[in-house]
Amino acid sequence: MKINKNYANVAESYLFSDIAKRVENFTKNNPDKKVIKMGIGDVTLPLCDAVIKKMHSAVDEMSKKETFKGYGPEQGYAFLRNSIKDYYKSHNVELDENEIFVSDGAKSDLGNILDLFDKDNVCLVPDPVYPVYVDTNVMTGRKIVFMNANEDNGFLPLPDKNVKCDIIYICSPNNPTGAVYNYEQLKMWVDYALEVGAVILFDSAYEAFVEDDLPRSIFEIDGAKKCAVEFCSFSKTAGFTGTRCGYTVVPKTLEFDGMNLNKMWLRRQTTKFNGVPYIVQAGASAVFTKEGQAQIKEALSYYKENARVMAKTLEDMGIWFTGGKNSPYIWLKCPNNMKSWDFFDLLLEKANVVGTPGAGFGKNGEGFFRLTAFGDKENTKTAMERIKSISFS
Ligand code: MLT
Repeated sequence: MKINKNYANVAESYLFSDIAKRVENFTKNNPDKKVIKMGIGDVTLPLCDAVIKKMHSAVDEMSKKETFKGYGPEQGYAFLRNSIKDYYKSHNVELDENEIFVSDGAKSDLGNILDLFDKDNVCLVPDPVYPVYVDTNVMTGRKIVFMNANEDNGFLPLPDKNVKCDIIYICSPNNPTGAVYNYEQLKMWVDYALEVGAVILFDSAYEAFVEDDLPRSIFEIDGAKKCAVEFCSFSKTAGFTGTRCGYTVVPKTLEFDGMNLNKMWLRRQTTKFNGVPYIVQAGASAVFTKEGQAQIKEALSYYKENARVMAKTLEDMGIWFTGGKNSPYIWLKCPNNMKSWDFFDLLLEKANVVGTPGAGFGKNGEGFFRLTAFGDKENTKTAMERIKSISFS
């Protein structure tokens, strides 16, 4: 039996599991310290009332023979796909219901979509980057070319015509940097992908945080339906990190190498996936009701206020950062040219605050650090006060 040896080339543990282990050790050795976690981008507010009510009534439906549901459509119930379609329409994007595939989250689909592409394709990935894009390709042994995101380009790299690639990853609003591409910049990516015949895998998991005149979807850009797949999620938008629901948009017009990606994805999903539980999809559909929209906006404002408090503290301290606006992430430059993991240890020990070392997102992340705005309001304030009181000299 031969094993997939590519697994020997991925880091021994996933970044966030590694951090969790370090924090667990610290807490074991310092049981009296109240640690505030601003590391993994996990939400802290409960599901909104509209979602909970809808899920309760879905549970009741499951208890009666007449309304009980067994297997659902693998690509998601029509009621949810239609709500998603209307949501896109409200941002001037027309989709066909059959271009929308409901899933258990963007992370799974971002990994699973690679089933559709040849192992010999070359991926173009920004550095720093959400580790899932890199690790899933390393696991299959695919070649990765990195593009530099740095202070000079505002962590928003643009296409380089001299670089040839087949699969391009873009995340905007970006994880980990919080930077957001504007319309012109995304158009450059779409034009480039069309020119070189590449597919763009566009991660829009943080679109709900956009408040300025910036694109929320790659499909707001002309030509994108001929070169892009979009991944989105209810996790950050509506607090579904533990409930699990997302969606992927695969346009019917996506043709590569004589094959249709929409048909291939449908075939893949119907074979390898049994769909998201009815109760969860019912809850997700409530996000798009008038009541649901108002309630999730309230939660998003809560997190945005955290981001504002964080940004203000860093400004007062004279620390350089991106994000915090149109994004739940703040990407800061470690004071005194400290290395990311040294800053992680210092913050944990001196402020009992957990963040994510930039180096965990790639070599260009060295010297940077990510904080999330998904925490509790009081904890966020306390954490920032503690950080402010550390002497970094
Ligand atoms: C993160 O902290 O980067 C995200 O929470 C991870 C994820 O969404 O999978």
